[in-house]
Amino acid sequence: ALERTFSIIKPDATNRNLTGAVNAVIEKAGLRIVAQKRIRMTQEQAETFYAVHKERPFFGELVSFMVSAPVVVQVLEGENAIAKYREVMGATNPANAADGTIRKLYALSVGENSVHGSDAPETARIEIAQFFAGNEIAG
Ligand code: CMP
Repeated sequence: ALERTFSIIKPDATNRNLTGAVNAVIEKAGLRIVAQKRIRMTQEQAETFYAVHKERPFFGELVSFMVSAPVVVQVLEGENAIAKYREVMGATNPANAADGTIRKLYALSVGENSVHGSDAPETARIEIAQFFAGNEIAG
């Protein structure tokens, strides 16, 4: 089915001027970038976004990383976009990521792993709505 997923190009990637390089991998995979903006996440936005991880030992580190520099938030559209983008990103830990994936190409560590992508349709809907109004998405 035609789906939308939510993506973040994280601070480690924006710091290294890799926005375009990441977008090239996304577009080469056939996903369409139907919304995109560069923002500085607030502490509150990052805590809300990652609320599901708030009991994890790495939560504080994760939130402080996400607010440490600008990020690029995106909506990606395509056939099976959620699963397809997870394939394109590669495993969370770049040491386990397959060749050609964004994380294999660019990620520095399990925390500084260059990109985020939604894990399921319901989370995609919630994550998109946290950062985009309907009229900011042009499919
Ligand atoms: P993401 O897909 O954005 O969702 C949760 C994030 O937590 C994940 O990517 C990782 O970047 C981060 N994460 C997972 N495990 C660890 C860890 N052990 N240390 C730091 N960050 C982690």
